[in-house]
Amino acid sequence: MRMRNKYRKSTTLRCNAGSRCSLPVLVWTLVGFLLMLHLYTLISQNSIPNKDIRNGISQNPLLRELEEVEEENLQMPPPRKRSPRAAKRKPKKATTLIDEFLDESSQIRHIFFPSIKMAVDPMKDAGNDSLYYYPGRIWLDTEGNPIQAHGGGILYDERSGTYYWYGEYKDGPTYHAHKKGAARVDVIGVGCYSSKDLWTWKNEGIVLAAEEENETHDLHKSNVLERPKVIYNDNTKKYVMWMHIDDTNYTKASIGVAISDSPTGPFDYLYSKRPHGFDSRDMTIFKDDDGVAYLIYSSEDNSELHVGPLDRDYLNVTPVVRRILVGQHREAPALFKHDGTYYMITSGCTGWAPNEALAHAAESIMGPWETMGNPCIGGNKIFRQTTFFAQSTFVLPLPGFKGSFIFMADRWNPADLRDSRYVWLPMTVGGAADQPFDYSFGFPLWSRVSIYWHKRWRLPGRGSG
Ligand code: DGJ
Repeated sequence: MRMRNKYRKSTTLRCNAGSRCSLPVLVWTLVGFLLMLHLYTLISQNSIPNKDIRNGISQNPLLRELEEVEEENLQMPPPRKRSPRAAKRKPKKATTLIDEFLDESSQIRHIFFPSIKMAVDPMKDAGNDSLYYYPGRIWLDTEGNPIQAHGGGILYDERSGTYYWYGEYKDGPTYHAHKKGAARVDVIGVGCYSSKDLWTWKNEGIVLAAEEENETHDLHKSNVLERPKVIYNDNTKKYVMWMHIDDTNYTKASIGVAISDSPTGPFDYLYSKRPHGFDSRDMTIFKDDDGVAYLIYSSEDNSELHVGPLDRDYLNVTPVVRRILVGQHREAPALFKHDGTYYMITSGCTGWAPNEALAHAAESIMGPWETMGNPCIGGNKIFRQTTFFAQSTFVLPLPGFKGSFIFMADRWNPADLRDSRYVWLPMTVGGAADQPFDYSFGFPLWSRVSIYWHKRWRLPGRGSG
């Protein structure tokens, strides 16, 4: 006799009007619905105005030129001749293009670090070359000196209608404090340059200077001052600078804060601390539309990022903090916002050597953040795998061109850090992202971030042709 199990749950459910439908039917209906929704999302993503932005088919003719990427034919140079004795002593390892990039005596060094003869000189480059950016070339200020604003960021000052570019002033000798320590330049200070057109930059001097004598001071030349960023506080009417402060061995891992009444300084240095009690290395600050500003920093030995709001005066963090991109080992954060969504470009952690950039997106700046993949387009594979041999530092929105930005990066020269170059490239947000995200079950929730490689380019709407 068959026993009836009174605890066995029935797999049939009652549907409407007393008809019966089984659980598998319901599950399959749900799966079908989700698939249809997914298809619909994909189709609607592809029918927005910026449609095939990856393939250079923007609706805006002024932007189209920027999305037509250029290819680079970069070949490994032939192996150098070595004497049989040298070859026997130390067999030569196969080198990569990154090794070539890092090798001061590489035969193809001029490709990564073009000579001063190729410098961009806005005071002389008139006519055909006017307003063109040449990523990787030396860029001269209005006095004819190479711009010193590494690891920098830009503040648009609404009161004066002027852009201010702040960055590490590294015009000193590069050396190693210890045999195995990273290449370094003594702290000189934070350089500031002003511009109305984002191409011609006037040197406004060192707005926060190093401390020469007092060895216990955070800004003593033997320490580290990196990635300074400045924002304006509408409540206090002060310009507030945040920066990474460290000791020679990067064990202090702190932030530093300075303020000024004027964008051109001088800035008064206030203090350093470990934000929220955590180690903090590469960092940036971001001022949101509602005036709330945030600090974003690499922490837990660079294994994750932290994000938290600043107080009303922007002089301190608040107790609120979130861990994001946990275990992803990212640094060099550059944050921006488009259409209510937050985006961020980060790099991997390989010292001064270049590596692959990743784009991330979030609905709330406090997270969760999702990783969308490599935003670099064009050049060639190694260009894309190395962020065009550079590292993110800042993203500047282009006023008048919604969804368009300037991606600012540093091409570090660890052999001579003062000769590090700037890689500025056009960047857009639009089109479907090319890989599913962690928490979206394959639904492309956000648009793709694309950074387009160009040997030479200029801002949309500039110039005649
Ligand atoms: C990578 C960071 O992004 C830079 O700002 C600098 O700290 C170097 N590491 C030092 O090796």
